[in-house]
Amino acid sequence: MNVGILGSGLMGGKLGTLFARAGHGVVFSYSRSQEKLQGLARDAGGRARAGTPREAAQEADVLLLAVHWSRIDDALKQAGHLVGKIIVTCSLPMNEDDTELVVAHTSSGAEELARKAPEAHVVAAFNTVPSEVLFNVFEAASRGGRPSLVYCGDDGRSKDSAARLITDVGFDPVDAGPLRIARYLEPFGLLVAQLAYEGDGGPELAYRFERFGSSKHR
Ligand SMILES: NC(=O)c1ccc[n+]([C@@H]2O[C@H](COP(=O)([O-])OP(=O)(O)OC[C@H]3O[C@@H](n4cnc5c(N)ncnc54)[C@H](OP(=O)(O)O)[C@@H]3O)[C@@H](O)[C@H]2O)c1
Repeated sequence: MNVGILGSGLMGGKLGTLFARAGHGVVFSYSRSQEKLQGLARDAGGRARAGTPREAAQEADVLLLAVHWSRIDDALKQAGHLVGKIIVTCSLPMNEDDTELVVAHTSSGAEELARKAPEAHVVAAFNTVPSEVLFNVFEAASRGGRPSLVYCGDDGRSKDSAARLITDVGFDPVDAGPLRIARYLEPFGLLVAQLAYEGDGGPELAYRFERFGSSKHR
């Protein structure tokens, strides 16, 4: 696939690099430094290159939105036409100093985003892992160790594309249901961050869901 990266920081830089290493065409965009975008593209190799948000969007099958919540409107505006595009968002709707969610309980950042870009298909994914795990997960996948990664969205075909990217990064994709489930995923993302950055384990923390039988067998 062609993947446009909108926001090439901790998440966008690493995920874009791994998408390129998995064979996808990647355009890194939306940074204050053009040199940084070019360096990311060079290090990622494959079919990765630097571009403007508009170029990233024009060619993309999937756009990864990885900006702070306060930058969402600007990033969408710079991206331009998004008719029929799949937007995979890892952005959590945080306040300026990242101490709390500014959208919660009765809606979610992912649903707000879908309202801002009604012509696109939004999938929420990658917002429940710290960026520090991504390279380790990618490397461990070839040895068979796959943590879970939860995603949600309303459009089946878009979710299939997101699940492919999730698998390519090394996770076992767990479909959590429609986009409104982001109301629970986004606080879960904060729980993971809390455990990763405040707990004893350090930031290299991922999670695994296990099913213990089904009600049929009770
Ligand atoms: N980091 C994590 O572990 C993690 C985990 C789960 C979810 N998230 C969510 O993912 C999203 C991205 O987080 P992140 O940690 O990747 O953020 P980040 O490292 O700060 O990256 C944000 C990107 O936006 C760019 N940017 C900011 N202001 C800009 C401006 N005025 N003009 C152009 N570009 C601008 C930054 O540019 P520069 O390249 O110039 O800095 C950077 O490339 C957030 O919503 C966060 O809540 C993050």
